[in-house]
Amino acid sequence: MSEVELRLQRLSDAKRFFKILSNPNFVFFGAKPKSIEAEKEWLKKGFEKRKKNLEHNYAITYDGKLIGGCGIKINQHRTFIGEIGYFVDEEYWGKGVATKATKLLEKIAFKMGIIRIEIVMQPANKGSVKVAKKCGYVKEGKLRKAISHLGKYEDVYLYSKVK
Ligand SMILES: CC(C)(COP(=O)(O)OP(=O)(O)OC[C@H]1O[C@@H](n2cnc3c(N)ncnc32)[C@H](O)[C@@H]1OP(=O)(O)O)[C@@H](O)C(=O)NCCC(=O)NCCS
Repeated sequence: MSEVELRLQRLSDAKRFFKILSNPNFVFFGAKPKSIEAEKEWLKKGFEKRKKNLEHNYAITYDGKLIGGCGIKINQHRTFIGEIGYFVDEEYWGKGVATKATKLLEKIAFKMGIIRIEIVMQPANKGSVKVAKKCGYVKEGKLRKAISHLGKYEDVYLYSKVK
């Protein structure tokens, strides 16, 4: 059986992440690195953010192959709250990868002392809504103009799970 695992991100993941994120079908995802170099810079910033407990990012592997990323951003006002995000290479969509990755990341987060995990997504991002539901997150409502996406403020659904 194919196995989904998480590991810490590495600078050498930049090329693969750049390829995955350059997919024009990632319409709901804000992270569009301009180059492999830019992706390396983002990864380096991520290592610093981990040390400062701002963000904890992971690579998603499938049978050992790098196929996506996920992470938890720590709310800096209430550090017991974290927000999970994820992306998966389109070739692997619909195989339960993001669902498994979210469940693994959630375990890590709760062990870190997080009490409440949030997932937000645009209402049209049906795949992401399904991931949140399959992982047992509860819909709390719609946040109006809560994200800035490609220069526009957009509404999102808020899902959460508490420890
Ligand atoms: C959203 C995303 C992470 C889902 O990853 P995934 O590994 O395919 O997710 P899973 O397979 O665990 O679950 C997705 C479910 O949604 C379903 N789904 C996907 N797209 C869908 C759509 N457009 N309409 C309805 N259902 C959809 C899948 O069939 C699957 O359901 P199933 O388990 O009943 O078969 C992936 O599509 C992705 O990387 N998108 C681009 C980045 C992104 O939008 N990230 C989230 C930002 S909030």
